[in-house]
Amino acid sequence: MRILFFGDIVARQGREIVLSCLDKLKEEYKPDIVIANGENSAHGKGITYKIYNQLRNTGIDVITMGNHTFSKSDIFENLTLMDRLVCPRNHIKYVDDCLDHIIVRVKDLRLMVVSLQCEAMMNETSASPFATMDELLEKEKNRYDICFVDLHGEATAEKRIFAEYYKEKLIAVIGTHTHVQTADERIIGNLAFISDAGMCGAYDSIIGRDIEECINARVKGMETRFTVADNKGVCCGVVIDIDENQKIATAIERIQIRPY
Ligand SMILES: [Fe+2]
Ligand SMILES: [Fe+2]
Repeated sequence: MRILFFGDIVARQGREIVLSCLDKLKEEYKPDIVIANGENSAHGKGITYKIYNQLRNTGIDVITMGNHTFSKSDIFENLTLMDRLVCPRNHIKYVDDCLDHIIVRVKDLRLMVVSLQCEAMMNETSASPFATMDELLEKEKNRYDICFVDLHGEATAEKRIFAEYYKEKLIAVIGTHTHVQTADERIIGNLAFISDAGMCGAYDSIIGRDIEECINARVKGMETRFTVADNKGVCCGVVIDIDENQKIATAIERIQIRPY
């Protein structure tokens, strides 16, 4: 089984680059399922029902989220319609209409996809990702075969600790949130790991945002409107191979397609 995962899709620039790369990537890697983090897909913060459908129609099977899950109020009105949207249960605004995991059948295996937040430097986190994960694994223990986790957090060390702790229980711990792809992809125990898959968004930017505005905010203390940078996107993600018989990850490869 092969999983293609895209890191945080940021605004129109991110959606466009995913759209323009996806067919080529599908042809090259032939993934059995495509997962993407969509927490920044609506103008840099959050997601809307319209954009959720757009991403689904693009060819993304499951969308994971993060600290920006609830940044657009539109989500609260449409949660029950978004049956392939996975939200972090340990987000302070998590509501019962959200799905904290999705189980999809891929190549005769029940793949559970989970979205979770880290604690370090993450203001929107309400509970330990470890306790939340343990609870979910126990609750669903008879309903899944393999489990993929999008671990959304700032600190690389926290993500590595999570991977080491669950190395016998999960098949992938893929970091998101920093929007900067790390070069530490590897197999740990039974799982595929990377601290951060990187983003799909404007290449000339500060994590997807307008550079000038970020400089003015940081250096001169000016108010920021969180304007999205308007230039061509970089496409970042990973491809994960899974041995279906052993139910373990066997390889992880980074993808980074730059506009120039
Ligand atoms: Fe993000
Ligand atoms: Fe985030």
